Amino acid sequence: MKPIVYPAFSICLTLILATFLGIHISFVRSQKNHTLIFTKENTIRNCSCSVAIRDCDYCLANLMCNCKTVLLSTMEKTTYKSHLTIWFTDTSVLEMLLNFTRVWDLKLSFCGTTPLPTEYLAIWGLQKLRVNKVKGRFPEQSVTISSSSNNDKEGLLGMHNKDRQMFAHISFLDTSLFNGYSLLKSYSVENVSSIMKHFPSLLYSDVFSTSDNESYVVTFIY
Ligand SMILES: *[C@@H]1O[C@H](CO)[C@@H](O)[C@H](O)[C@H]1NC(C)=O
Ligand SMILES: *[C@@H]1O[C@H](CO)[C@@H](O)[C@H](O)[C@H]1NC(C)=O
Ligand SMILES: *[C@@H]1O[C@H](CO)[C@@H](O)[C@H](O)[C@H]1NC(C)=O
Ligand SMILES: *[C@@H]1O[C@H](CO)[C@@H](O)[C@H](O)[C@H]1NC(C)=O
Repeated sequence: MKPIVYPAFSICLTLILATFLGIHISFVRSQKNHTLIFTKENTIRNCSCSVAIRDCDYCLANLMCNCKTVLLSTMEKTTYKSHLTIWFTDTSVLEMLLNFTRVWDLKLSFCGTTPLPTEYLAIWGLQKLRVNKVKGRFPEQSVTISSSSNNDKEGLLGMHNKDRQMFAHISFLDTSLFNGYSLLKSYSVENVSSIMKHFPSLLYSDVFSTSDNESYVVTFIY
């Protein structure tokens, strides 16, 4: 049983009431719509929000954003071309949402209470990551992954070209980093021709196939 978040609920009630009474509540305006995906129990909601919602405030998100329920059976690996925020409580759903997707600007907020195991999520083309650990009990942290000849446009494709050689960017995120306070760190290795050969302990490196010209920029986030 997960504890019910009463403060969020009461804020939500207040909000409904305020809306009903026609009182204008001003929110922090963000420039454009952004995608927020959150999971609660086994439900996944995919929202488009035009205002910034406080992390893990499910009720407010449902109220203020345009949300749809995502059926697990129809979920596909997607490319996210703009900022994506995910609120999650366990690694299994996070894995379904994120493992081997392409996203360059990502925020992850851990809204659960049970510590997460060490598992590696593979993310293509990641450039900016913000994390919020344990319901905001620690300050938000971020890392920017850049390699020598990056720009945003190339980052969208998760690839860049250096000396006529293609580099595919892949990041491995250790899910246990959400468990407690430690500094968010990243370490990149450039020009990796074979992930399987260089990092045999990543048990699923057989997923990667390389064409002759392609090398990887491999980043570990921990
Ligand atoms: C969430 O919605 C966005 C567009 O609103 C879409 O591109 C994306 O594929 C959706 N993600 C999932 C997991 O349904
Ligand atoms: C990501 O996908 C790979 C390959 O399917 C799998 O081996 C790995 O366990 C997944 N990662 C997580 C965190 O589930
Ligand atoms: C990448 O590595 C290969 C083989 O080790 C080398 O021939 C190539 O010049 C390197 N490319 C860059 C851009 O460092
Ligand atoms: C490798 O690069 C050369 C020139 O840089 C190009 O002509 C060739 O098509 C590339 N091969 C693959 C498999 O991408």
